[in-house]
Amino acid sequence: MRDWISYWDSDHPIYVNARHFDVHYANIADDIIRLLPGKEARVLDYGCGEALHADKIAGRCSTLYLCEAAPTVRSHLQERFGKIANIAVTSPEQVEAMEPESLDLIVANSLLQYLKRGELVALLKVWRRLLAPGGALVIADVVGPQQSAIADALSLLDFARKNGFLTAAIIGLVKTTLSDYRKIRAELGLTTYDEAEMLKLLTDAGFDAARLRPNLGHNQGRMAFRAQKKAALTDS
Ligand SMILES: C[S@@+](CC[C@H](N)C(=O)[O-])C[C@H]1O[C@@H](n2cnc3c(N)ncnc32)[C@H](O)[C@@H]1O
Repeated sequence: MRDWISYWDSDHPIYVNARHFDVHYANIADDIIRLLPGKEARVLDYGCGEALHADKIAGRCSTLYLCEAAPTVRSHLQERFGKIANIAVTSPEQVEAMEPESLDLIVANSLLQYLKRGELVALLKVWRRLLAPGGALVIADVVGPQQSAIADALSLLDFARKNGFLTAAIIGLVKTTLSDYRKIRAELGLTTYDEAEMLKLLTDAGFDAARLRPNLGHNQGRMAFRAQKKAALTDS
């Protein structure tokens, strides 16, 4: 596997069954809806994955841009949501070409661990340019250096127990452990940040930022941050 995008573009075993796939994205959609500033909001879900319930978010905002780097995932999104007028499926390149100040909310959930630090710094610049005055950037599900794979597994099992797929989750975890994911994780690594480092990165990129609680999704061992453009900094 060359990189993480190729992994997400493949037929991977991350979702243990259809129920997990569905409730995972239902949960994320509900969490994004809670962040919406209003019906008129123009929203970007960056690194959205399959975003199964994006139509629910789109029903509560003005425009929803779904950005995905993996071409296969993007084509699934297009098939699923192509007929919904206020959903636009985009590539990272298309997002980069968007008009300045054209978004009110940008969400990046469970993305940062798959980016190199330099890629994040470059993206923060893009996101800052795209935020309209008063707009917010929410970066969530950030993996800290102390977060263990065991803690992630326990959080998944708890989520599975509450949502009726515990047996499948146990089998799924064994499969994931034996699958490529573990090998790829060892090979490519995950990028981790502690809270102070994330806040500094955001501040250095021209944002006022703070920790946001709870995290999006089920794993409260991971971190979320809310950031807004610092008013005084001029764009370069
Ligand atoms: C763990 S999934 C998260 C999906 C979704 N946000 C969620 O919370 O379930 C990470 C997603 O980010 C996408 N991704 C990775 N690198 C990316 C990049 N540089 N730009 C856009 N998407 C990216 C992957 O293809 C994958 O679909």
